[in-house]
Amino acid sequence: MTDLSTLRSRLEAIGQGHLFRYFDGLTIDQRVAYLAQLQSLDVDALPGLIETYVTHTPAAEVPADLKPVPYYPFNPAARARAWHRHEAKARGEALVRAGKVAAFVVAGGQGSRLGFDGPKGCFPAGAVTGKTLFQMFAENLLGAKDRYGAVVPWYIMTSPLNHDATVAFFKAHAYFGLNADDVMFFPQGVMPSLDLATGRVLLASKGEIATNPDGHGGCVRALHVSGALADMRRRGIEHLSYFQVDNPHARVIDPAFLGLHAGAEDSSGEMSSKMVVKASPDEKVGVFCLAGGKVRVVEYSDMPAALTTARNPDGSLTFNAGSIAIHAIGVEFLERLATDPRFALPFHRAEKKVPCINPETGQPVTPTANNAVKLEKFVFDALALARASIVYETDRLEEFAPIKNATGVDSVETSKVLQTKRAARWLQACGVDVPMTPAGEPDCVIEISPRTATSVVELRAAMLPTAVERGSRIAL
Ligand code: UD1
Repeated sequence: MTDLSTLRSRLEAIGQGHLFRYFDGLTIDQRVAYLAQLQSLDVDALPGLIETYVTHTPAAEVPADLKPVPYYPFNPAARARAWHRHEAKARGEALVRAGKVAAFVVAGGQGSRLGFDGPKGCFPAGAVTGKTLFQMFAENLLGAKDRYGAVVPWYIMTSPLNHDATVAFFKAHAYFGLNADDVMFFPQGVMPSLDLATGRVLLASKGEIATNPDGHGGCVRALHVSGALADMRRRGIEHLSYFQVDNPHARVIDPAFLGLHAGAEDSSGEMSSKMVVKASPDEKVGVFCLAGGKVRVVEYSDMPAALTTARNPDGSLTFNAGSIAIHAIGVEFLERLATDPRFALPFHRAEKKVPCINPETGQPVTPTANNAVKLEKFVFDALALARASIVYETDRLEEFAPIKNATGVDSVETSKVLQTKRAARWLQACGVDVPMTPAGEPDCVIEISPRTATSVVELRAAMLPTAVERGSRIAL
């Protein structure tokens, strides 16, 4: 631990002396908390980060040799790449039954676009019941236990900003019926938010620096330092089903995908991904590509326009592999990365509005324009570190109904419409009459709990309604 005067002079030497301007006026308790925060700063790395990401604004590094990624088609009979669903599914099911699979959700994001005051997983998302996202994921795991007779432990990455609220929410809801010992919460790391104009670390108050979560890529380190990886070892977990907190259609246990990840000839079992065919060139999803023989995700904002709009002779998009941010990740792979001293995922910069105090006057500042640079790591940058990595196509309606915005595209309204559409599709496939509008949309609202089913083949006759009335609201 660095002593106070050494820390002070080291920070002064790199132009961050303002961090001590109000120190002498703090109470003892405030000083202790503030010093702990300052001591967690990587002071040696700061000047380099500021030089690279604030003084300069690096163009996103997009490899020159980007190619479309080959993928396992949703329809296994597709000629491009035939595969055997039943074999992959059996392999995945065996892994789940043997207790070798855990669920892992990244829930540390700030959810500022959604404008929801609380952890995003506490957002009411169910089309009929208003169930929260966390409850929906818990019901996936309860369903997996019913179906495969095995406990699927759940690792939940929070951030220091929402950790306590997340844990309290689970406690208040008795872990939604899960065994508390099988749910582990751990916070990801943070990065200091940097002043856009000067690179100085922003002060949230006189005794606190402004920070932001270090991106979902921070999970590799956080899984290690929290003891989560060790806990997985102890339980015999070999693979993680990784998903984002914003997608109520995430199929947490998908045996066919897990089976391909763990057993396909061209997979290393280290890190695999799910894609959907992009809905349009400008859809805001990352795109799976190949570069230097490795699978990469290029974020929508970084993809060169000429590639985004490029089309094949049949009119389909050339770079069509949209990321729904669902991965299968090998525990051994994570251990290898987390314990390799040379391992570091790259930073990505984003400009944000971060409330802070003016370091000269101590007065609070509520910015109306971007005033800060935040630095984040992305988990998908680890794909390039896997020995081999496969991409698997899924059906958009089956697995992607994200809630990202308060209104409009990818909002709770669009997600609820998709939940009903998927449920209607399943019921119709089981021979249930679903009333439709003249425009061909379901004329009712239906929500199927992931405990009941996460795909149509899991629906049993006894679970089905005999009839669905026009205008009715049904939760199964
Ligand atoms: C993300 C993906 C995008 C993908 C899309 C699919 C990134 C950068 N992009 O976009 O490629 O097509 O989802 O829906 O991820 N999170 C943390 N800690 C953090 C930051 C984020 O846990 O520090 C979690 C959030 O809680 C959320 C997820 O990561 O679950 C996504 O983060 P967000 O920044 O909202 O990414 P998107 O722009 O939605």
